[in-house]
Amino acid sequence: MTRLLAAATILVLVGWPTFRVNARRENGAAPAYPQGREVRARADALLAQMTLEEKLGQMNQLFFFGSTADGGVANGIRNGQVGSLLFVTNPALINSLQRIAVTESRLKIPLIFGYDVTHGFHTIFPVSIAMAASWDPKLIERSQAIAAREARAVGINWTFAPMVDITRDPRWGRIVEGAGEDPYLGAVMAQAHVRGLQGERIGSPDRLLACAKHFAGYGAAEGGRDYDAANISDAQLWNVYFPPFKAAVDAGVGCVMSAYMDLNDVPATGNRWLLRDVLRRDWKFNGFVVSDANSVDEMRNHGYARDAHDAAVKALTAGVNMEMSFGQSVYLKNIGNAIKQNQVSVKDVDDLVRPLLEAKIRLGLFENPYVDETKVKSTFAQPQHREAAKAAAVSSAVLLKNQNNLLPLSKTAYKRIAVIGPLADSRQNILGPWSFAMDIDQTTTILAGLKNKLGASTQIDFAPGVQMNRVFPSIFDQLLKEKHPPVWSETQAADEFRKAIELAKGADLAVMVLGENQDMSGEQASRSTLDLPGRQLELLQAVKATGKPVVLLLMNGRPLDISWAAENVPAILEIWYPGTEGGNAVADLLFGDANPGGKLPVTWMRHVGQVPIYYSHNLTQNPSQQDKRYWNEKFVPLYPFGYGLSYTTFAFSNLKLSQPEIRVGAATEVSVEVKNTGKRAGDEVVQLYIHQQSGGASRPIRELKGFERVTLAPGETKAVRFKLGPEDLRYWNGAARDWVQDAATFDVWAGNDSTASLHTTLKVR
Ligand code: NOJ
Repeated sequence: MTRLLAAATILVLVGWPTFRVNARRENGAAPAYPQGREVRARADALLAQMTLEEKLGQMNQLFFFGSTADGGVANGIRNGQVGSLLFVTNPALINSLQRIAVTESRLKIPLIFGYDVTHGFHTIFPVSIAMAASWDPKLIERSQAIAAREARAVGINWTFAPMVDITRDPRWGRIVEGAGEDPYLGAVMAQAHVRGLQGERIGSPDRLLACAKHFAGYGAAEGGRDYDAANISDAQLWNVYFPPFKAAVDAGVGCVMSAYMDLNDVPATGNRWLLRDVLRRDWKFNGFVVSDANSVDEMRNHGYARDAHDAAVKALTAGVNMEMSFGQSVYLKNIGNAIKQNQVSVKDVDDLVRPLLEAKIRLGLFENPYVDETKVKSTFAQPQHREAAKAAAVSSAVLLKNQNNLLPLSKTAYKRIAVIGPLADSRQNILGPWSFAMDIDQTTTILAGLKNKLGASTQIDFAPGVQMNRVFPSIFDQLLKEKHPPVWSETQAADEFRKAIELAKGADLAVMVLGENQDMSGEQASRSTLDLPGRQLELLQAVKATGKPVVLLLMNGRPLDISWAAENVPAILEIWYPGTEGGNAVADLLFGDANPGGKLPVTWMRHVGQVPIYYSHNLTQNPSQQDKRYWNEKFVPLYPFGYGLSYTTFAFSNLKLSQPEIRVGAATEVSVEVKNTGKRAGDEVVQLYIHQQSGGASRPIRELKGFERVTLAPGETKAVRFKLGPEDLRYWNGAARDWVQDAATFDVWAGNDSTASLHTTLKVR
């Protein structure tokens, strides 16, 4: 009887027709897939039918670069040995591979297709650091919802985004993929990305399962060298590196990726404390952990795992649910033996497989395993996708310098404009790293954007002037849609340089587009210096020497050493890698059809030797002597965190606390007024900083605790309010190994960057 009941339950819960019935419809349109307890029951019912090999198969994720659904991987899917594939972007191929899983494998468990949809899929948005420079979470949410819709249209279900690694070292190439140096900004951005990518919950129509990566501390790689060990104190982990991950978990992120590197001598992928104690026990994360590529097996290389068997046991014990690999799944090969040797149990495996099945159930993959190939084109063609990409590029640009209001430019004052620089007309570079699935022909370069804006009335000529190349090719070279141009001979290089200078001489204005090729930041793209690569500075100096006005557009994913430019070039606009609509967005900004309002999400160093440099550092025993801390270089950065100019001006006043004295555990409201004191409408980012004057630990000189981007008409004033409560005033105390809130006096500042001077004091008793 019990058996019969069990069988009936399985049929009811797992049977294919039942799955179809279970796909409910919300608002009469989009299907809403199972949630809550039903998900668990269905996953358990499936688990009860699975062999050990099938369970380990679900834990196996493989890169797939093939073009047809046959061969070894297809067989693996058929045999229930593969649970997920990554890097497949062709909808027909996705459907064929899925068909094998759903019709030919014993339990018909669908595959989940993953891909790095980090800043757009078909329509490319600005890179993540640029999106953070918008200080506009709503904009990020909208942008990522579009990215999700486009990726979902080809059958991708899961993205390896957002990257929420804090970094304070711009030598680290992957700084481009995150939100910069600050835990508060990083946390707000992390939540915006998750909400945009995933929607209200996993399984929301046209969205993806999101994955916060790389847990944790990857951005603290020593020397900024990619993959290098991170040695991070307990206090720094909790106060700086963890908050964006915690925020992503609170926003319901379905997946977390374990990082490659050693964290305090234990590889993150084998780090039980990280993946079980912090992530699951303390933060109540109930999604799944995927390892970064091959990072289970590679624990051998760290000198942490003895062999592949040991690596599998260590990763499983630590709590890695799915192993991402290039084909050598060590789980599949070794966990059976490990169970026989009592190193891990079947229950351990079940507990890790269950969340994987739950994710597939939540995503509705059992009901809708296939993608409708006929809808791909119309999804991509939606004009609002490009409009949103343009709006994002406009909002994320940061005006670094604008001497004598050279910008915005008049549309009629310049008859001949020289557009100069190796990045000015490159379609691949303007899109930034992690852009592979787009239609490259849809990209608007800076040159094209300026021509679109000015039409035939202005003569616009272009010369790249110089070339720049990496010393060794990027790992992603094969995937690029626009190949690197052939390297110039010495004679050609000299000719091209000369041609650019001649062009500038004959023009009324030079717009220079300098920075880094897209493959100079990202994975395996760290640098020991931060100057403009190649002969770009020489080119800039030579163009400046012509006496023509120069506007410098910086296209890059990290702060660069632009000290010479900051002294000598009148106007500098940081445009990052602005994406598909970058050229049109930049043209709007240059000619005043849009007003820059982005702010730096990262401190901009003067020289690489200052790195790591970040605004939220601790004080010293002698803060008044800080200008003596280097004898050859200023201590302060070139541009502070939170900095960015506008074509208008703003003034801050009336900084007030609703309660200037509160008890520990209570909250106060901070209000401040901001006025547009100039003649144009513009955006300002109102920023709130605090400093705890004394207590159980030395606290940073300033910490961001709130911000809001506001749009103001000329003369308009707005009051902005923030809550300051125990969550904002507490910190992780390394000695107590706990969150602590001290009774202390706090400085409170509001303004438009991390050097804001408008000040008041809060007493916490
Ligand atoms: C390795 C990268 O570190 C990670 O960020 C990415 O998601 C995976 N490869 C998959 O492409």
